[in-house]
Amino acid sequence: MGTIISTVNMKGGVGKTTLTVNLATCLAKKHNKRVLVLDLDSQISATLSLISPHDFAKLRKKKHTLSYLLDNVINPNPWSKLNIQDIIVPNICGIDGLELLPGDIQLYDEYQVSQMLHQRATESNEHEFGRVWDSFERVLIEQIIEPVVDEYDFIILDCAPGYNLLTRSGIAASNFYLLPARPEPLSLVGIQLLERRIAKLKQSHQDTQPVNVNLLGIVFILSAGGLMGRYYKQVMKRVQDDFTAEQLFSQSIPMDVNVAKAVDLFTPVSLAMPNSGGSKAFMKLSDEFLTKTLVKKELVAVN
Ligand SMILES: Nc1ncnc2c1ncn2[C@@H]1O[C@H](COP(=O)(O)OP(=O)(O)O)[C@@H](O)[C@H]1O
Ligand SMILES: [Mg+2]
Repeated sequence: MGTIISTVNMKGGVGKTTLTVNLATCLAKKHNKRVLVLDLDSQISATLSLISPHDFAKLRKKKHTLSYLLDNVINPNPWSKLNIQDIIVPNICGIDGLELLPGDIQLYDEYQVSQMLHQRATESNEHEFGRVWDSFERVLIEQIIEPVVDEYDFIILDCAPGYNLLTRSGIAASNFYLLPARPEPLSLVGIQLLERRIAKLKQSHQDTQPVNVNLLGIVFILSAGGLMGRYYKQVMKRVQDDFTAEQLFSQSIPMDVNVAKAVDLFTPVSLAMPNSGGSKAFMKLSDEFLTKTLVKKELVAVN
């Protein structure tokens, strides 16, 4: 069964999407893994980092996006014909084993979800709306990926900033979460806040369908030099005190203009500019990622 990983941070612009697409690329290209990227963010950055806007427009016209699958769970339609296999785009950027479930700019309608769950709560005599909502959130993403979980080594979910329904559902479906962050004081506070929320998510499901997600590690995105670089180094010292080595990736990602430029080519930097500093860092990170997932999976199995 594939290992499911959510890339999360409640902050935006910290490098979640960049990490998701580059890690997925390195795992497929360097390590011959089968990897699926799922774009859970309506900003569709992961989608547009891997395919062109023109190709995305064509897919969207045919309803070949995550939105179709979500609609099917929220508002089941016996006539709907597409399944997840029809929607997944294989051979991304020409790489065998790298696949994408495209996101959408309109993923779901909150009002419609609430209305549907209210109705469900009434019909099932389950008068606690909260409980119906929780169990829906627990299985939404899990149900969507269930038919293909065995086909991949890794399924990486690129989450939106904040802590919305899809992020919570994605985390609940995951074995691990990856946390990219900048070494800034408020960012460190943010990590602890997210950890608290995930602990709460686990608690609210422990009596029904337990959530078995664990932190895989925090990946720091560093400024390479100058005053900012020096400041980040100081904060990194604090990080060593606040977090255990097991919670951190020793490999960090440097700020590298090539990483940002690659987005314009709809190709991750690790493919577009393999000799750049950013690309080399993602390659090394993918080695550490594989070691960490192996070790942590064994730990989870023992416990
Ligand atoms: N290591 C890096 N070097 C240079 N630019 C980066 C790096 N990581 C991310 N960026 C840029 O920062 C911006 C935000 O990154 P992104 O991955 O989209 O963040 P998030 O998904 O957390 O919102 C993007 O324009 C991206 O190209
Ligand atoms: Mg993003």
